[in-house]
Amino acid sequence: MHESALEAARELLTNFAGLPGSEAEAPGRVNLIGEHTDYNGGLVLPAALAQRTAVAVRFSDGSRVRGVSREEGAAESELEAPPGRAWLDYVRGVALELSATHRIPRRGFDVAVAGEVPGGSGLSSSAALEVATALALGAAADRPFRSDEALDLARLCQRAESGFVGVPCGILDPFASLLAREGEAILLDCARMTWEAVPLPTQLELVIVDTGVRRALREGGYKTRREECEQALESSRGVLARTIATLSEIGPHELPALRGALPSVLYRRVRHVVTENRRVHAFANALRHAHLPVAGEALYGSHASLRDDYEVTCDESDLLVEQSRTLPGVVGARMTGAGWGGCTVHLVESDHAQEVLERLQAGFAARFGQVPRAWRTRPGPGARTSG
Ligand code: GLA
Repeated sequence: MHESALEAARELLTNFAGLPGSEAEAPGRVNLIGEHTDYNGGLVLPAALAQRTAVAVRFSDGSRVRGVSREEGAAESELEAPPGRAWLDYVRGVALELSATHRIPRRGFDVAVAGEVPGGSGLSSSAALEVATALALGAAADRPFRSDEALDLARLCQRAESGFVGVPCGILDPFASLLAREGEAILLDCARMTWEAVPLPTQLELVIVDTGVRRALREGGYKTRREECEQALESSRGVLARTIATLSEIGPHELPALRGALPSVLYRRVRHVVTENRRVHAFANALRHAHLPVAGEALYGSHASLRDDYEVTCDESDLLVEQSRTLPGVVGARMTGAGWGGCTVHLVESDHAQEVLERLQAGFAARFGQVPRAWRTRPGPGARTSG
């Protein structure tokens, strides 16, 4: 029988610590549209994956954190030791943040992890681990989170990853893992921090294909893009002669003024952000009214902008998206996540989903010599504690 991630984490902890503990699980996420907009005060539209990461914890005496992961093996460290480039860093980062807010005691614990979210593929396995860890630790300390604390918790996970682990990231991933709901994508305004549900029409599915190309965020590209956006913001303020807090406050009508004034690279970064926000709006409205050609245009437009203006796609993701245009039942497609590899997402009519998946795999294999991993999914539920 197929064991759920939660059952696996429970069993691991019981074998390892002698007793069960408190448990939680959190999904990975796929961003449908709105890429590289979260840290620019813009719009994102993620959904939760069906794949989840489960965490079981039990406080122990002393200050050691002892971990066992079904996928990554055992790891052990002092709670307050500096990060050691191990999966346990994500767990310790969250625990240290939670202890700073007095949510949990600052002491050691045993932790077991079982994850279904593929790592390194831009589907936020790290956010799933952080969110599940936070919920499990809160439950273990008898301080469970209320639903109105979800946003604070998402920010806490973001701080753990960017501050302690040292991987720069935005609010998109932990937010989606915590707050997404089954059957829906979630439209988040990252400046106002307000959100609303956008149901995925029931006749549609997501096909996700992993290019297999791995460029970790920490390799620098993501950081460089964020720095370019900072510079672009500073220069745009000068040109537009008004105070703007983020690039998302720039209107499309202001782009011509920026075109000649900013270095070409910075101008194209701004153009991506400004046009991407509009595409998120267009896509969300189109989904609500089942105007599928409009939704598809927004997805393909997003990919083109990420390829030409933001320059974060790669040959593998470009091919998968181009192939989509020729396949029956595909509404639209784009790269998803930070880019430089990772996954593509294809919005597909369910009746055609299996055929689309197989033809994408075959086309990719013909060009790149290997069959990529691919999944069919509908939006899954957000994170939860067990019991
Ligand atoms: C990574 C980050 C997110 C977001 C995306 C790009 O996944 O963790 O916060 O910036 O890249 O949209």
